[in-house]
Order: sequence, then C-alpha cells, then structure tokens
Amino acid sequence: MCALRLTYHGHSCFELSDGSHSLIVDPFLSGNPQADVGPEKIRVQFVLLTHGHGDHLGDALEIARRNQATIVAPYELAAFCQSQGAEAHAMHIGGSWHFPFGRVKLTMALHGAAIEAGADSGSRADRAAGLLYGGNPCGYLVDMGGKRVYHAGDTGLFGDMALIGRLEHPDVALLPIGDNFVMGPQDALEAARMLQAPLVIPMHYNTFPVIRQDAEVFGAEVEAELGGAAGPGIHCRVMAPGDVLEL
Ligand code: NI
Ligand code: MN
Repeated sequence: MCALRLTYHGHSCFELSDGSHSLIVDPFLSGNPQADVGPEKIRVQFVLLTHGHGDHLGDALEIARRNQATIVAPYELAAFCQSQGAEAHAMHIGGSWHFPFGRVKLTMALHGAAIEAGADSGSRADRAAGLLYGGNPCGYLVDMGGKRVYHAGDTGLFGDMALIGRLEHPDVALLPIGDNFVMGPQDALEAARMLQAPLVIPMHYNTFPVIRQDAEVFGAEVEAELGGAAGPGIHCRVMAPGDVLEL
C-alpha cells in the first residue's frame, strides 16, 4: 500500500496524496511551459502557498474555487485569497496546525513575498504598481501518509536548515536549485547536508532561461558528496513534470 504519493507538476508545484487526502503546493500551471497538466485537471482538498509571486500563487484561486478546497498560506497571503472569495486557513512561520491529513508547520524562507495581483497584464510599471503587500514567504513541513515532506519554498540558503533537520527530521526535502532568485546547486547541496533528509528532490529550475540548471549534475553531486555508505546516506531523485513517486 502506498503511504504517500508525490507528483511533480514542474517548477515548485507538487501534489501530495495518501489515498484519501490530497493537497497541492504552489500550483503554477497556466503559463508554465514545464507544467504537465492544466489547473482544470487538479482534484485536491487543500492548496498550500509559500508566497504570492505569480510563479507560486499561480492557479491557486481557480483550483480552490473549483474544488472547494482550503488555501493554506501565511496570514497576509491568506487574507488576500479570502478577499478573492477563497476559503483560506491563515498560519505563520513557526506555527503548526493539525489538518485532517496531518500536521503542517511553516518554516522561514529568505525571499520576497509581494502578491502579484495583476501580473498578467500591462507594462512593467503597471505590474510594479499592482504589487500588494504579502507579508513573509515561507516553506512547509507537511506530514502525510506517515512521511514528513519539507518544501523549502523560494529561499536562499540559511543556517537554521540545520535546526529543521535536527528537530523535524524530514523524510524528503524539496529544494530549489535554479539560482538567480533562489539557491543555486552549490547552496542546495549544503542545504541537503544540513537537513539530513534521506531523499532530496530539486525544484524551481528550467522554467525560465534565467534559472536553467542541469539537475542531473546536481543529483550526481548529492550522490557523490552525501550518498555514500560513509556519509549520511542522502540520495537525490530528479523528477520530470508528471513523474510520480510513491514513498
Ligand atoms: Ni518567488
Ligand atoms: Mn519563484
């Protein structure tokens, strides 16, 4: 029996299911050249958002509306989603809550968090004027199907990842490697070392030219540096959009 089913939809979007509960994180599908599905195909009960940038907020409102799903987000972003008619559960960094599928805890992320309210239209000036205050970005620890998943969100490397590793013992770490806006591969390798999760999955790369990376090279680095019997036994799995992993 599958305890946790993890599906990658490209960029930072992952769908988690335990057979009876399901959620999606950062559903950037429309307008994402890497996405394997459109928002109309998504069936979930919860939508978790790390921050309000367009490549994370994405299709969250449409998916929530269509599925009558609850959006989980940091307070300021949750308030925005509620203002758009969505059901939302507000949380904040350091806080945890037990949902029907398991615990969710918000972690810090070093990044921006403005909400791109009208990102699809207008000039650069219009886009800048359309930015709404979005509080702080976050990462997530999600318990489902007996596993603990750490989704780092958009972030640079920070030393407290060691604390997350020591106190929370994630089974899987979803780490950005795209560089420019987030950690690059070298920092992501250090993140993997600190988090000590036995499985690392890279994300937030190749969606745009500026975040192009060779994930297989990153995966080989993880195996070489951390995968050996003498080391902590950390392995990397590169997922293509549409890939499913059963844990
Ligand atoms: Ni971002
Ligand atoms: Mn991003």
